[in-house]
Amino acid sequence: MKILIVHGPNLGLLGSREPGIYGHLSLEDINRQISDFAETLGVDVECRQSDVEGELVHWIGQAGKTHQGLVINPAAYTHTSVAIRDAISASGLKAVEIHLSNTHAREEFRHTSLTAPVCIAQIQGFGPLGYQLALQGLVDVLHSTAD
Ligand code: DQA
Repeated sequence: MKILIVHGPNLGLLGSREPGIYGHLSLEDINRQISDFAETLGVDVECRQSDVEGELVHWIGQAGKTHQGLVINPAAYTHTSVAIRDAISASGLKAVEIHLSNTHAREEFRHTSLTAPVCIAQIQGFGPLGYQLALQGLVDVLHSTAD
């Protein structure tokens, strides 16, 4: 089973970016945690990050042909991107949205997610652990819905 992990804009700066909100782990550290956890679940993960909306849209579209599931932190595009929402929907992939911070406890413009309605679940506020929780839930759902 192949799962694509997608990190959106500015998440490449994790570690130095607002550590009071996002913690001290770099994206590399987080990707290592995700890969180690994926191994215990027996699934293949591919982790990607981009600051470019079109690139994220393209990767999601391609993954629809090659992967079974998607874990995505669309970052700021969560609140603005109809294109990423449509890409998730068009891909047919089961997707889980994840946020490191609890967006509902932050500025009002972060309270709306355009992408969550086309995902099967959303996890937020648990920091990097959220990626593992998202992956575990997604794999469980994929196993239980497999033919
Ligand atoms: C974020 C929350 C978003 O509102 C913000 O724009 C991010 C990170 C999170 O993981 O908490 O870049 O997605």
